[in-house]
Amino acid sequence: MITPILLCGGSGTRLWPLSRKSFPKQFADLVGQESLFQASALRFVGEGFADPVVVTGNAFRFIVAEQLDECLVAPGSILIEPEGRNTAPAAIIATLHVARTAPDDLILIVPSDHAVADPDLFREAVTRGRPAAEAGQIVTFGIAPDRPETGFGWLERSTETSPGVFALERFIEKPDTDTARRLLADSRNMWNAGVFLAKANRMIEAYRTHAPEILALAEKALRDARDDLGFVRIDPEVWQQMPDISIDYAIMEQARDVSVVRFEGAWSDLGSWQAVWQQSPRDGAGNAVSENATAMDCEGSLLRSESPEIELVGIGLKNIVAVAMHDAVMVADMSQSQNVKKAVDTLKARE
Ligand code: GDD
Ligand code: MG
Repeated sequence: MITPILLCGGSGTRLWPLSRKSFPKQFADLVGQESLFQASALRFVGEGFADPVVVTGNAFRFIVAEQLDECLVAPGSILIEPEGRNTAPAAIIATLHVARTAPDDLILIVPSDHAVADPDLFREAVTRGRPAAEAGQIVTFGIAPDRPETGFGWLERSTETSPGVFALERFIEKPDTDTARRLLADSRNMWNAGVFLAKANRMIEAYRTHAPEILALAEKALRDARDDLGFVRIDPEVWQQMPDISIDYAIMEQARDVSVVRFEGAWSDLGSWQAVWQQSPRDGAGNAVSENATAMDCEGSLLRSESPEIELVGIGLKNIVAVAMHDAVMVADMSQSQNVKKAVDTLKARE
């Protein structure tokens, strides 16, 4: 069996004002009928998959339970972090939780902020990676890159070990621009999709080698966790001592015996408004326009009103993103959409 571990405790600030501290982007209906979190959960259900283990923040526990219920996914467990410590601690505490009952089972670490056009194709990629994971590899999933992206991890592959599965030469998390350009120039290199498949015990061993302090704290935090109306509440005192680091830096950059499966389908980390615009249905002039919004003589713009109370009208705009909520409005040049995070930091500093 494969147990999906759904990570959904991130804050997604680059999609402000839709994504909020109390309601981050993974729970919003960004481009489809379901939220990104629901789509991630639904991607890995059915034959061969156990009920998912979800790791999230205290503030999101009811949204998680409600959204799973809505899409008829029964969670195995919902683990609650007293506060976010990034993905390395979240991934290992869930892995330890799975290993209590099924140490030789496979775990699939799944971020919840992606759009994947064809879920069957992603499941097929997971199936392709399965023998390598059963044989003790940590399996990553690679996406064909189309730009020198510095916001992702990159995978440098070496030889093909079975059709569509390669040994990994190097994992480079969030490179600088020059490195990203160099990586893009070699068509064998891929982006890291942020999904990892391994035996639960193999992942625990990787932590024992590369991040023993995180492993020890996670073991203790799980031992001291308490059941609270169906949620597993992680011990706050232990969690406070946990370093804040991603699995990519803490484990994957160091790990040996890693494989990569190339995923050929459409994939997007909806990390910015520009990415949302690219993934949304658009009119003939390239505008993505929501309900309660109107584009007149606009081109290549995203106009989105999230409130039935607010009518958003754009006239003569070119490559602009405008998002209106009931309590905040954000207007930016599309090319600056990565800078929304900076704006949020500025607003926070003012609080
Ligand atoms: N439970 C929990 N707790 N979940 C978290 C936390 C946390 O503290 N922090 C982040 N997450 C969740 C996010 O909600 C998201 O679904 C997932 O973990 C990945 O975190 P991101 O913060 O979005 O990571 P990233 O996008 O910067 O980088 C990762 O994904 C890229 C692909 O989208 C890396 O794996 C990169 O290498 C990869 O290219
Ligand atoms: Mg992300």
